[in-house]
Amino acid sequence: MQKKAVVVGALGVIGRYIVEKLVAEGDWQVVGLSRRPEKNSPRYTHVSVDLLNTRDVAKKLKGLSDVTHVFYAAFQASPGNAAGYASNIAPNRDMLANAVTAVDRAGKSLQRVVLVTGTKYYGTHLGPMKTPMRETDPRHMPPNYYFDQIDWLTAYQHGKKWSWAELRPQTLCGFAPGTAMSILPAIAVYAAISKELGLPLRFPGKPGAWSTIYQVTESAHFASACLWAATEPRAANQAYNITNGDYFRWRNVWPRIAAVFGMKPGDVQTISLTQHMADKADLWAAMTRKYGLRRFDFDQLVAWPFADYVFGSDWDVMSDVTKSRLHGFHDVVDSEAMFERMLKRFRREKIVP
Ligand SMILES: NC(=O)c1ccc[n+]([C@@H]2O[C@H](COP(=O)([O-])OP(=O)(O)OC[C@H]3O[C@@H](n4cnc5c(N)ncnc54)[C@H](OP(=O)(O)O)[C@@H]3O)[C@@H](O)[C@H]2O)c1
Repeated sequence: MQKKAVVVGALGVIGRYIVEKLVAEGDWQVVGLSRRPEKNSPRYTHVSVDLLNTRDVAKKLKGLSDVTHVFYAAFQASPGNAAGYASNIAPNRDMLANAVTAVDRAGKSLQRVVLVTGTKYYGTHLGPMKTPMRETDPRHMPPNYYFDQIDWLTAYQHGKKWSWAELRPQTLCGFAPGTAMSILPAIAVYAAISKELGLPLRFPGKPGAWSTIYQVTESAHFASACLWAATEPRAANQAYNITNGDYFRWRNVWPRIAAVFGMKPGDVQTISLTQHMADKADLWAAMTRKYGLRRFDFDQLVAWPFADYVFGSDWDVMSDVTKSRLHGFHDVVDSEAMFERMLKRFRREKIVP
């Protein structure tokens, strides 16, 4: 049976990969939503809509009558430190409510809403917490917009024929210009600039972050998990941790990352990337010309506050993914190999030299 998906936040570091995955499957019609325009392609229709503008939503989403699945991955950051993004309640709650309400009212075919939250559910942005994190762990002290999103969605779904699934990833690894949260472009651009300046690839984070346990989630792998969660009967009204399924320490990955760029791995030298990269836009423009790179605005290419946040995490961050495995999602990714593979691809695709 032909399925029709609405991917909310279709140009993000999660949404882009859900779109790509569903379109490749062949039996999905996909509608993507975001404010920015994007080209249509076979089986993909893009709707440029501001989900915080209720008139825009009413006008542009009323025709979505036969939607079977919603994948919700829209997000708005707040200014300042990335650890504070979780407190940005109103826009993140309202975008979800506006999108899901519009699709639900437009037709009768809805089967499942997949809501993307994250490990900030457990307070990974606050400091050390219990590890491994399990889906049954109690929430941290609010505010956190995930709680508002989950509470709204579960209340709204009550008594309806469709179900929801909530997925909690950690630190997505993909490429999406304009995203506020993406670690790989930050590593790639930081490495390329260090190399250009004749520096070794030093670890810019906190000394503790160099050695603690960390985990990430490849965007393409996460998209597979979203597809599974949308169609797996056992996933109805369930929450799941989804990561690559392994753990690493930056100190062990760093030499492999340095090797991708033909650089010497350096030691730890803690700097604020947000501050130290603030004057590097002209250097990047010159490097773009020198190496024939694809043209991006420097501030659209890299989210430095997010990199400072990730490299400042000097406590163990470990999700337990047993529940998703028991319920049928068995894919895993070797994170160390992923860094090497994806960074090589960034170089091949002329995102960085
Ligand atoms: N990235 C990570 O590492 C990570 C890790 C764990 C959890 N998560 C969670 O995953 C969720 C999605 O985050 P993300 O990182 O994928 O976000 P993202 O890359 O910034 O993408 C956000 C998407 O939302 C769209 N959007 C924002 N405001 C909109 C509006 N008013 N109307 C319509 N579309 C709008 C953006 O497109 P336009 O700008 O074109 O509107 C974009 O397509 C968040 O809740 C986040 O906390 C992310």
